[in-house]
Amino acid sequence: MKGVVLAGGTGTRLRPLTLITNKHLLPVYDKPMIMYPIETLHSAGILEIMIVCGREHAGDFINFLGSGKEIGVKISYAVQDKNNAGIADALSYAEDFADKGDIAVILGDNLFEDNFENSIKKFKNGARIFLKKVKNPQRYGVPVFDKSGKKIIKIEEKPKNPKSNYAQTGFYLMDKKIFSFIKKQKPSKRGELEMTDTINQYIREGSIDFSVIKGGWYDAGTIDSLLESSLLISKKYK
Ligand code: G1P
Repeated sequence: MKGVVLAGGTGTRLRPLTLITNKHLLPVYDKPMIMYPIETLHSAGILEIMIVCGREHAGDFINFLGSGKEIGVKISYAVQDKNNAGIADALSYAEDFADKGDIAVILGDNLFEDNFENSIKKFKNGARIFLKKVKNPQRYGVPVFDKSGKKIIKIEEKPKNPKSNYAQTGFYLMDKKIFSFIKKQKPSKRGELEMTDTINQYIREGSIDFSVIKGGWYDAGTIDSLLESSLLISKKYK
């Protein structure tokens, strides 16, 4: 399977740091943030990776990562024209790269302890999302379960009154339908093509599966969570 790291966006929640460089190049403990999602894909056996980034600072990604040879992967790049067009818009740039195959998609600010190798091996078709129990679901995409608690009815993006304590993490396995789903989508209220709306199309079609991840998960997209992730990772080395 090929992998895509979505590293676009304007990083408004990390200003003024993101006025100097892209969010995904900021340090998390001893490495630029983007190294963590790349390592997650690599350790899951994915060796061909596309990075979708915004046009500002695109050269910095290439300067830092090059062809990927030094880290044992083959990296290609796509530039998202408008960096505030949303995560699903960013993914649409990877259609040719995916070449009608299944893809693993990871958000560039998501740090995982889990290894996804087995999930990738078992993946058949449709989409699989990965959930984690959290204290502040309002900040994330939140699944709404049916009465049995085993089936997801929909995902609500940043709901004021979350209907579960789970967050949809930024790791997704998807089949080729993802690209036709994105083409059918309209921008959300905040003017972005949301990944949550894409996932909801899989849910409506009845081809979604989910797992609850066991290890730690950090979304390093805010000043506080950036600091928290650095501290947690630093402790692992001590
Ligand atoms: C994005 C997604 C959200 C998901 C989160 C995970 O939100 O829109 O559904 O739960 O990533 O990190 P963002 O953090 O970009 O606002």
